[in-house]
Amino acid sequence: MNVFLDTSIFLGKFLYYFLESLFYKIISKKKKDVTGEIVLITGAASGLGRLLAIKFARLGAILVLWDINEEGNMETCRMIKEKQDAKAFAYTCDCSNRQDVYRAADQVKKEVGNVTILINNAGVVTGREFLKTPDHMVERSFLINAMSHFWTCKAFLPAMLEANHGHLVCISSVAGVTGINGLSDYCASKFAACGFAESLHFELRLLQKTNIKTTIVCPYFIKTGMFEGCSTKYPLLLPMLKQEYAAQNILNAILEEQLYLILPRFFHIALLLKQVISPNMLMALAEYLGMDIALASFIERENPGEVQTKTERKQQ
Ligand SMILES: NC(=O)c1ccc[n+]([C@@H]2O[C@H](COP(=O)([O-])OP(=O)(O)OC[C@H]3O[C@@H](n4cnc5c(N)ncnc54)[C@H](O)[C@@H]3O)[C@@H](O)[C@H]2O)c1
Repeated sequence: MNVFLDTSIFLGKFLYYFLESLFYKIISKKKKDVTGEIVLITGAASGLGRLLAIKFARLGAILVLWDINEEGNMETCRMIKEKQDAKAFAYTCDCSNRQDVYRAADQVKKEVGNVTILINNAGVVTGREFLKTPDHMVERSFLINAMSHFWTCKAFLPAMLEANHGHLVCISSVAGVTGINGLSDYCASKFAACGFAESLHFELRLLQKTNIKTTIVCPYFIKTGMFEGCSTKYPLLLPMLKQEYAAQNILNAILEEQLYLILPRFFHIALLLKQVISPNMLMALAEYLGMDIALASFIERENPGEVQTKTERKQQ
């Protein structure tokens, strides 16, 4: 193919996709029907995972709930079955453990069927300065926030490929697209999750498996308790997101098969600026927005029920 033809095709595609994206900024995309889809959500015992499970159940999906917290997970399952005539199956699974992921995945395939929408949502945060983060906590962040995505995708993607039907959802974070002080292990693991999901998306495009969709979710702080004590200086610009708002936006992004969802929308501008302004200007912006002190009064949740503030830790 000559250069002229090649370039013309590229420019034609570029213009077409530009107009398409403009069009969908004005008119929202048709939402897909998830009736009968088997939706697996990791970290379904609380927060976003629980809300997403309830929302998918309302739409007629079959829910597979995974969490290390058996009690919370059973509660989500009960909430779904009580209020709606929906099918839900709860499994206790430690997503940081590869063998446990494969064991639970085999059980799901036998007892429920092939998962068609996989939502990698389980997550943990350490919230300590880098040198004060014990090695095992760095490993824990990576195992849960990133590595578990590799194992769940290895377990469920083959059936999706065979049917050319499925959806992979990566719940990352704004911390997966920009570094934040006090969150080195969290940011690095969330960057890894984004990188993995984006790479897989391109692989699937190349394999022409166009009916296997990817959604990468990058929210700022959500009031779920994970970032208890964190604050925002200008809530109008950078609000702490309400759980319901975040979950509804994530659901819509999945149903509309969006590749990226960044919340709040203001972060689109901040991320664009990151590429064009100087590092000092970026620092000034982060300080102005109070991002540098957002974690100052973070309350750590090492285990469910165990909370300890940084001040308390310093006093010990
Ligand atoms: N809350 C926020 O501000 C925020 C912001 C951006 C992204 N996120 C991401 O959203 C996702 C959901 O977080 P959330 O805010 O609902 O917090 P959450 O603590 O309520 O939910 C996390 C869930 O993951 C489960 N989990 C932890 N370790 C696990 C393991 N080893 N195996 C299985 N399950 C495990 C927990 O038991 C919990 O139910 C996380 O990936 C988090 O990083 C949260």
